[in-house]
Amino acid sequence: MTSPTQVWAHRGASGYAPENTLPAFELALDQGAEGVEFDVQLSRDGALVVIHDETLDRTTDGTGRVVGHALAELRALDASGGDADYAGVRIPTLDEVLALLAPQRLRINIELKNSVEPYPGLEEKVLASVAEHGLADRVVLSSFADASVRRLRELAPEIELAMLYTRPEARPWRRATLLGAQGFHPPARLVPARLWVRLAHAAGMAVRPWIVNNPAQLATMFRWQVDAVFTDTPDVALALRSAS
Ligand code: G3P
Ligand code: CA
Repeated sequence: MTSPTQVWAHRGASGYAPENTLPAFELALDQGAEGVEFDVQLSRDGALVVIHDETLDRTTDGTGRVVGHALAELRALDASGGDADYAGVRIPTLDEVLALLAPQRLRINIELKNSVEPYPGLEEKVLASVAEHGLADRVVLSSFADASVRRLRELAPEIELAMLYTRPEARPWRRATLLGAQGFHPPARLVPARLWVRLAHAAGMAVRPWIVNNPAQLATMFRWQVDAVFTDTPDVALALRSAS
């Protein structure tokens, strides 16, 4: 008997609360998500901050590059993305997010956002924070930068890793294996068939597609028995899974 597809909240329950903020992660917990995904970058002074874009303009009232600002400057910004219900919410640090999630049981996918800004030392800092919170057996670390996945594997043989990609690949499990990853996270549109998922599983890989919000696509992913879906609306996905 295979386990049911898990529901992992993408940037928190970002369909309802500002992405990558503490309220979005709290809501994901309240809704019963079985995992949570978020993105980590570095401030100018080397602090780990949770934010998706390399620039501040879309999700905060600041402008310019994340790495162009010191932590204190980033913390002064409003990260509500213009949602009045969440006015004044801050960009969280990785430490804050892990402190919130550590007492819970859900899985934690930390995406290292280092394919545009190289962020030297990001891998070491993330691993240190994961160790400090005692989360080595609950995290999956992922990156679009293959070199970063390789580096993580060298630094931490015990940590679960996943490869991210956006271009069609016939057998992504081969490249993921070469990188030392245990899984890969494709855009849902690049998951072609149940057999393909089975082949990935036979190669020892977990398959976790993103971003699956549409009920018909969720139903397909559940039927094809992917390991988890990343979704902005965990409540919708969980209700659909219960009904299926
Ligand atoms: O990690 C899966 C997904 O979050 C990757 O895309 O752009 O939402 O970070 P993005
Ligand atoms: Ca992400």
